[in-house]
Amino acid sequence: MSDVVLSLANAGRTYPGTPPVESLRGVDLTVRAGELVAVVGPSGSGKTTLLNLAAGLDRPTTGSVRLAGQAVENLSDRRLSGLRAYALGVVFQQFFLMDHLSSVDNVANGLLYRGVPADERRRAAAAALDRVGLAHRAGHPAGKLSGGERQRVAIARALVGWPALILADEPTGNLDSVSGAQILALLRDLHSDGVTLLVITHDATVAEACPRRVDLRDGRIVADTGWTE
Ligand SMILES: Nc1ncnc2c1ncn2[C@@H]1O[C@H](COP(=O)(O)OP(=O)(O)OP(=O)(O)O)[C@@H](O)[C@H]1O
Ligand SMILES: [Mg+2]
Repeated sequence: MSDVVLSLANAGRTYPGTPPVESLRGVDLTVRAGELVAVVGPSGSGKTTLLNLAAGLDRPTTGSVRLAGQAVENLSDRRLSGLRAYALGVVFQQFFLMDHLSSVDNVANGLLYRGVPADERRRAAAAALDRVGLAHRAGHPAGKLSGGERQRVAIARALVGWPALILADEPTGNLDSVSGAQILALLRDLHSDGVTLLVITHDATVAEACPRRVDLRDGRIVADTGWTE
């Protein structure tokens, strides 16, 4: 059996309020190394909450979240940051690139929290940019790239340290259909290379292209096609 990269056991997240919002309830999910998993569900079903828990950006109010073998709820903020720096790459819908920095410097920033020397960061960043087909835009300020190119830079930044898991929140959500198809092809290509990916998506084409699909409704998993390899 392959290594488990991410597991949620009875994981829940309730936001305080009157009444409190049970954004995620009793979720059990195991992702193994090498999987490409799509998480789908209507607006408000808990997709981003799930991503935030998986990314260690938020902590569960019930149950447990294990990332690369470590229970995030038991780690101090400092140790959690360390774990995230080594185990995780995240691709956000809004890219979150620094527009004035070049593509290669944006990607190199993906290694900032590992304490890697600058010249090594740049070398790794150049290789990651090449991997996503953007070597020819290495010196371009990120703010001058097209939407599809910006998303490639964001993927390269998530990929640059070869983390155990890449999480992506609506990676095609802000793109036209041609750029979206190219990003989907890239994600599938990374999957064939053995990269582990969890992709949150509203896009049926993206979900259909993933070997495994998990459906969320009202904070619960209502369907999971399961592990296929
Ligand atoms: N910080 C918060 N405080 C209170 N309620 C929240 C908070 N974050 C999310 N929620 C609520 O939790 C539920 C799930 O939110 P979440 O953002 O996970 O949904 P989603 O599936 O990502 O939706 P979308 O597709 O619209 O992005 C929603 O009802 C939302 O209003
Ligand atoms: Mg969301």
